[in-house]
Amino acid sequence: MSKPIGVIDSGVGGLTVARELIRQLPKERMIYLGDTLRCPYGPRPKEEVRTFTWQMVNYLLDKDIKLLVIACNTATAFTLDELQDTLDIPVIGVIEPGARAAIKVSRNKRIGVIGTEGTVSSQAYPNTLKAIDQQIKVNDLSCPAFVPMVEDGMFDGTEAEEIVAHTLRPLKEKNHIDTLILGCTHYPLIRDLIQQEMGEHIQVICSGEETAREASFILAYNDQLYNGSTPPKHEFYSTGDLEKFEKVANGWFNEPVSFLKQIELSLNSSRTS
Ligand code: DGL
Repeated sequence: MSKPIGVIDSGVGGLTVARELIRQLPKERMIYLGDTLRCPYGPRPKEEVRTFTWQMVNYLLDKDIKLLVIACNTATAFTLDELQDTLDIPVIGVIEPGARAAIKVSRNKRIGVIGTEGTVSSQAYPNTLKAIDQQIKVNDLSCPAFVPMVEDGMFDGTEAEEIVAHTLRPLKEKNHIDTLILGCTHYPLIRDLIQQEMGEHIQVICSGEETAREASFILAYNDQLYNGSTPPKHEFYSTGDLEKFEKVANGWFNEPVSFLKQIELSLNSSRTS
């Protein structure tokens, strides 16, 4: 059997990237790990996010993954370079793919970015966008209310609409952006609410599609795509409440998740940085 692709996130957000991976790479087996117990990562200091991310990575390395997808912007902002330098498998994050996708569609080069406090304060998006095109103007905003909402499965209704409207007000007031990057993988789960609030004229970008394209390209380039005929059995692991995780996952994938297990993460691994 072929080696799996490993996908990590602080919780259910990475499922938005996982769905794209499954769609674009239907033969590949995926192992997903969400650290739901300690979600959100967004308000945590960099060092803590780094430690938690390494714990997830070590868990997946023990499962002999062939590619690691950091399906979490906060973890990407704080650990991508280090993981790419240290691991002997390819590692991809979600920030550069999201930035590239936004630059492709923006006409006025004014791009909005919403994300967690950690991602926004890291300035990873403005730096990445400007490294690609120096003329890009970035308006960023952290939206701390969104991740807890999504983890609780609150995707619609008046309360959710009000939270989204209130949170996005400063970005709407600044105006002029024509493209908005959902710089947190949890946000595509409330994409409709965000789009509705920002207006149809704004192009809303989720990084999942571009990230999956990059995964596909890397596996093909390394001649590591699975060519057999065994249908993949994906595995999902969560450190927290399985019932909540399952509900969000089943809704997002439109079919029941067949393997879901609760695990504990620890630093006890030879590979921990
Ligand atoms: N989904 C993650 C991200 O893309 C993390 C959200 C959080 O845990 O705060 O940043």
